[in-house]
Formats: sequence, structure tokens, C-alpha cells
Amino acid sequence: MKKICVGIIGVGRIGKIHLNNLSNHFKSIEIGAISDIDEKKEKLCKDYGINKFYKSYKNLVLDKAIDAILICSPTNLHSEQIIFSAKHGKDIFCEKPVDLSLEKTKKVLKIINKTKIKFMIGFNRRFDPDFMQVKKMICSGKIGKVQIIKITSRDPNPPSINYIKNSGGLFIDMTIHDFDMACNMANDKVREIYSTGNARNKKINQVGDIDTALTTLKFENGIICAIDNSRKSAYGYDQRIEIFGSKGMCGITKKNDKTTFLINGKGIKTPFPKDFFITRYKQAYINEIKEFINCLINNDIPSVGIKNAIMSIRIALAAKLSYTENRKVELREIS
Ligand SMILES: NC(=O)c1ccc[n+]([C@@H]2O[C@H](COP(=O)([O-])OP(=O)(O)OC[C@H]3O[C@@H](n4cnc5c(N)ncnc54)[C@H](O)[C@@H]3O)[C@@H](O)[C@H]2O)c1
Repeated sequence: MKKICVGIIGVGRIGKIHLNNLSNHFKSIEIGAISDIDEKKEKLCKDYGINKFYKSYKNLVLDKAIDAILICSPTNLHSEQIIFSAKHGKDIFCEKPVDLSLEKTKKVLKIINKTKIKFMIGFNRRFDPDFMQVKKMICSGKIGKVQIIKITSRDPNPPSINYIKNSGGLFIDMTIHDFDMACNMANDKVREIYSTGNARNKKINQVGDIDTALTTLKFENGIICAIDNSRKSAYGYDQRIEIFGSKGMCGITKKNDKTTFLINGKGIKTPFPKDFFITRYKQAYINEIKEFINCLINNDIPSVGIKNAIMSIRIALAAKLSYTENRKVELREIS
């Protein structure tokens, strides 16, 4: 059977993770080419035994050998690259978010629907074994009717200022994962959003973004959700969730590299949490690409696609508006 030939656009932080996973875990595919505007990335091609490196992403898309594309470039380039790839009949996995604006995300939806290509968005947390277990517990009725969802999502360090400038801001870049996770756990549509925040970091403040936020969501079915974010957590990457229901509670605590702990007269010492997304979500990144590849092989539709991308960007834009205008925003305002 002919191997599926995959091309990757952008091999920075996340692109390298996918490159590594594709080359180590999937025998049914080959990596045909890489594209990056940074010529220094050509060395990665050689390191991974990939023959083709394109500085222009269009040349990668136009390469007839390429069947499917992973888009891992900065967010502000995604919609243009998705549209160009879709028009050339390539199946697409795109990192979150699809675009910074709802208009362009909707344009992408139209084109994808017209072309019938396969499209998946990288909401990797849906594929994390722990989050999947929590979702299973909810669905099996073990905690009864869900009433409250609490999400803590704090990064150990902010990304570069250059990254932040093109990211769309905290809600669109970072909280978007939590918005998607909340929708996934609540299994319903958000009705209203309220967000407040602050910029503790001077440089982040100077570029007009914030690094600390609290958001509350109210779903149509009455579930309420609280999300707290920080770009700078002194004790490391903090990813937690708590689901409170009519019959009990379930959730995830911080994931540590080690399980050893020390308790003595001086206090309690436990290991730091996993250092960042690369280690914390290691298995989730493998699982999400596995789903994408399986969908290509079996002609199935990925479980997380453009509709989830639209819902999450609407919530993120509502959160941004709520923060800017300091008021509760109804999701229907963002249509
Ligand atoms: N799912 C996740 O956990 C996760 C984590 C980090 C980033 N992301 C998303 O992935 C995307 C990339 O983020 P990152 O942190 O890897 O950024 P990055 O800046 O580390 O990497 C981006 C790469 O794209 C390259 N690039 C820029 N313009 C290009 C072009 N026109 N054609 C080809 N390559 C180009 C850059 O040279 C760089 O190598 C963003 O959309 C971000 O939101 C997702």
C-alpha cells in the first residue's frame, strides 16, 4: 500500500514536536517535505532524512507527492495557508487557532465544505489520556449532572514578545484551549462570558496584551465554568480541571515527572509539575496525529474540526470584548 505523504509548514516549537512524532510513531506515512521561511531549519530536514525543503509554503503545497499537510506556522498565516492547501486538494491538520478573526475562520469553513478535504484542528488536550478519562467519567454518569467546571491553566513562562505580538492575545492564543476543553466537558453551547485580567509583565503590557485572566462561562444547559490563566507560574506548568456534579466530583491534578515526595519536620516536599506543554501533553500530541492519520487511511471525519474552531474563536473574541468593555458578553453578540 502506498504510504501517505505528509508535508509540514513551520517547524518551530510545535512543528518540531509533530515532526518528531510523525517520524517515530507512524509507519504508514512518510514525511515528504518541510517548509519554513527560516533557512536554518533545512538542517532539520537532513537530520530526519527528509529530501525536500521549501522556503515558500506554496511550493510545498504544489508538490504533487504531498497528500496531507500539517500547518504549524504562526497563527496569522493559518487561514491563507489552509485556503491555498484546500484549493489544491490537500488534507489538513492545522494548529490552533485557525485564525485571529471570526470572518476568516468562517471563510475557511466555506472552502473546506466546498472542497470536501479532511480538516482537523490541533486541540491536543482532547487527546490527553487524563482528560479523556475525565470525559469518560462524566459520560458514564459517575458524578451525576455536571454543575461546575473549574479549569486552571498556567504556563511556566510567557512566549517571546514577538510571538505574543502575532498571537491575537491571551484569550485567542492561550485560553482558547480551555474554552475548547470546557465545551468538550460541558457538551453544550456557551451562552454568556465574563472576563477580567491584568498585565503583570511590563513588556506584555507594552504590546497591549495581558498575562493573567479569570473567565467565567455560562452554558445553555446551566453549567457554569471558571477558567484561570497565567503566563507565568513560578512553580511550573499548571494544568488542572475539576468537574463538580450532583453525585460527586472528578478531575485532574498537576502531573509530575516523579512520584516521590518527602514529609518531615520541615514540611512537605513534592516534585515540580511537568515543565511545559511539550512534556505534559507528549501523549496527547501523538494521539491527535494518530487520529488524523487514521482518518486519512479509513476515510473518516476527524472528531475535532472547523466547527470546533469556530466555536472556540467566538468564545475567545467574546472574552476579549468582555475584558475590554468590562461587561458580560452574550455569545450571540459574536456572530
Ligand atoms: N497545540 C499546542 O499545544 C500548541 C503549542 C504551541 C503553539 N501552538 C500553535 O502553533 C502555531 C506555531 O506556534 P509555535 O510556538 O510553534 O511558533 P514558533 O514561532 O516557534 O514556530 C513557527 C515556525 O513557523 C515558521 N514560519 C513563519 N512564517 C512561515 C511561512 N510563511 N512559511 C513557513 N514557515 C513559516 C517560523 O520560521 C517558525 O519556525 C501557533 O499557531 C500556535 O498557536 C500550539
